[in-house]
Amino acid sequence: MKFFLDTADIADIKKYAAWGIVDGVTTNPSIIAKGGVNLEQRIKEIAEIVEGPISAEVISEDAEGMITEGRRIAKWDENVYVKVPMTSEGLKAVSVFSKEGIHTNVTLVFSVTQAVMAAKAGATLVSPFVGRLDDISEDEMQLIADIVHVFRNYGYDTQVLAASIRHPKHIVDCMMCGADIATMPPELFDKLASHPLTDKGLVAFLKDWEKVKDKQ
Ligand code: G3P
Repeated sequence: MKFFLDTADIADIKKYAAWGIVDGVTTNPSIIAKGGVNLEQRIKEIAEIVEGPISAEVISEDAEGMITEGRRIAKWDENVYVKVPMTSEGLKAVSVFSKEGIHTNVTLVFSVTQAVMAAKAGATLVSPFVGRLDDISEDEMQLIADIVHVFRNYGYDTQVLAASIRHPKHIVDCMMCGADIATMPPELFDKLASHPLTDKGLVAFLKDWEKVKDKQ
């Protein structure tokens, strides 16, 4: 499974890229607003650090505006994916981008039918929002499993990017369901990598080593 960072924070991206486990980055208007940064400048900075897909979202609501924005965004770097909301206007834009060879990430997906519509329009990635469904007691993992199953049934190339991830169990469940990618907040990488028994074991090893270190 590919792990993406869902952030535009350069310090965090550098920190986790150094671990060798960042396969891509996703952003959205809220993430950019939180950082208070210029989207184009920030996406270009991220592209210098991460060699993998970097999603930048359009903010137009009509297809014409999305197409104009997306064509501009796609020129920022060869790894930039144009993130498009799952609306009827978004589908029109995705079908144009698909014909032009521009990679897309269809976002705000909450149902199997939305995922299929996006795949049929030629989306490169679809982003079902796991955490936001979990927040309202919907069966978020059934959605991931169903989308993966249906895409396999019909041979769609579109990849399933599980977004809005909240905790490590979401990641494990997404892997069991066969999602291609998960994008997550930076702090989750620490939780995925750590275990109290690892810490405890290391303390014991180093304490024992103290007893023989002078003999080395
Ligand atoms: O970028 C889309 C998604 O990952 C947002 O997550 O936490 O705002 O539901 P969240």
